[in-house]
Amino acid sequence: MPDTEKLKDKVAIVTGAAQGLGKEIAIEFASQGAHIVLIDINQKEAQRVENLFHKKKFYVDLITTNVCDSKDVNKAINVIAKKYKKIDILVNAVGGFDKLDSIEDINDQEWLRVIDLNLNSAFYCTRAVFPIMKKNRFGRIINISSGAGLAPNPHAPSYIPYGAAKAGLLGMTRLLARDAGEFGITVNALAPGTALTPRVKKVRDAKSIENIAKMNPMRNLIDPIDCAKAALFLASEDARYITGVTMMVNAGNLIF
Ligand SMILES: NC(=O)c1ccc[n+]([C@@H]2O[C@H](COP(=O)([O-])OP(=O)(O)OC[C@H]3O[C@@H](n4cnc5c(N)ncnc54)[C@H](O)[C@@H]3O)[C@@H](O)[C@H]2O)c1
Repeated sequence: MPDTEKLKDKVAIVTGAAQGLGKEIAIEFASQGAHIVLIDINQKEAQRVENLFHKKKFYVDLITTNVCDSKDVNKAINVIAKKYKKIDILVNAVGGFDKLDSIEDINDQEWLRVIDLNLNSAFYCTRAVFPIMKKNRFGRIINISSGAGLAPNPHAPSYIPYGAAKAGLLGMTRLLARDAGEFGITVNALAPGTALTPRVKKVRDAKSIENIAKMNPMRNLIDPIDCAKAALFLASEDARYITGVTMMVNAGNLIF
């Protein structure tokens, strides 16, 4: 198989694809022959990515929707399933946090918002694609968790609702992997370390970024492309019997 066709004709949904890790994963998958469905709430940025795909002659659909709303998610997945009659790959990349409050300052609303964004959204999307993958007896589900779902960052502040949601996502990954296996569906997670996406540039101060880069055993931050390459591996035939794993992509930030 040529090295540019690892996902030839696969239909891949990438949520949060308008920027950051989701965007990089979508580009990497498209360059390997996948039909990409970009899902994002930010119409303007998502259209920019769609235009980029058109320029590169990549196959692309764009659905602007809020993945924290299960009804909207079901509608979006129905549209894709009707068009392609299959969904091969789902990457749940929506997530993140935009502040670093300590526990006594976090009200109920903030807690629920972060859990919604980082855990419930992935549940809604996974639940919606699952019967379609099951019927076709093929699927690759990749959840973008975080090092924060495994342990506190050793070199910078951590944010508890985010780590709790990302740990939940790892739990869902492992439990679903067992149930999904008999249908030819693998379920895996990435646990990235810090990468300088537009969101991270806003939320982490310069000192934390420098500290993480300096203290990581590999003396650097990861780039979004490092996650994209790992996701490609998990989505490809090369990983056909790998399921239930958490792949850390973190320049050694955490080592277990
Ligand atoms: N960047 C990092 O350092 C890092 C590290 C570990 C894990 N992660 C995880 O990787 C994923 C991507 O992170 P990022 O830094 O690229 O984030 P980002 O904020 O740069 O990108 C997230 C994208 O998701 C979209 N989005 C947000 N809410 C949405 C909603 N409700 N419905 C649909 N789309 C929505 C945004 O518009 C944006 O395009 C997240 O799950 C994050 O937790 C990132």
